[in-house]
Amino acid sequence: METLGCSSIEQYLDVLDENRAERETLLFFLRITISRFFRDRELWTSLADSVFPTLLKQNDALKIWCAGCSCGEEVYSLNILHEEHWATCSSIKILGTDANDACLERAQKGIYQKSSLRELGPTMLSTCFHRSVRRNDFAIKQKFKEGIAWKHHDFFNALPDRGFHAVFLRNNLLTYHRPRVQSIVLDRILQSLLPGGFLVIGSHEILPPQPFNLVPTACNMIYQLQESG
Ligand SMILES: C[S@@+](CC[C@H](N)C(=O)[O-])C[C@H]1O[C@@H](n2cnc3c(N)ncnc32)[C@H](O)[C@@H]1O
Repeated sequence: METLGCSSIEQYLDVLDENRAERETLLFFLRITISRFFRDRELWTSLADSVFPTLLKQNDALKIWCAGCSCGEEVYSLNILHEEHWATCSSIKILGTDANDACLERAQKGIYQKSSLRELGPTMLSTCFHRSVRRNDFAIKQKFKEGIAWKHHDFFNALPDRGFHAVFLRNNLLTYHRPRVQSIVLDRILQSLLPGGFLVIGSHEILPPQPFNLVPTACNMIYQLQESG
């Protein structure tokens, strides 16, 4: 506020009204970017036991969107899961999008601190990462970077693509926005999902009260979009 010459909140709100760049700067600082590999273990068990097998019955090439993917932890977790179980019989393409370019740059590099990897046991750590003792960090191996595209996208804007078998929308829209805004944005995001596809949300999140043609599954973080007709 000081650098903008504002001495009160009211003055700062006036600046925000007129200055798009300042609005973007404020949003940059407000957005929380915490993530982890295989966050919410029970979700990944359901994906492995139920969602992937269901999708792979009908498709041998999967297309998945992680909206608000932070530094890529969720995206790489998906690629690791697929590689572990189904890489020999199917392919996967994952689109990781975020409104924060610094996060996307870090996602592309794929270098993480141990704190992001605390759900992984020692075998998985060594199978999936190169450890740098000098830097005290872990770099994802090249094969887990394959099939991934990263793109700047704000989910308040037009869809980045359509025809996804699953959309991950976790710990962002449904946590930080009001139900009315959630409804409008979710309605649009669901247009990117194929009938029979899955919407994956955070463990503490609930859908806004509106019939979205989404059917709950045994896992409270996963919903299936009804087939039409
Ligand atoms: C708490 S992180 C969640 C990351 C990951 N989905 C997870 O659950 O582990 C929230 C991410 O959503 C992103 N985000 C917030 N608002 C967004 C928007 N309007 N469009 C796209 N991404 C957004 C933030 O930049 C941040 O990287």
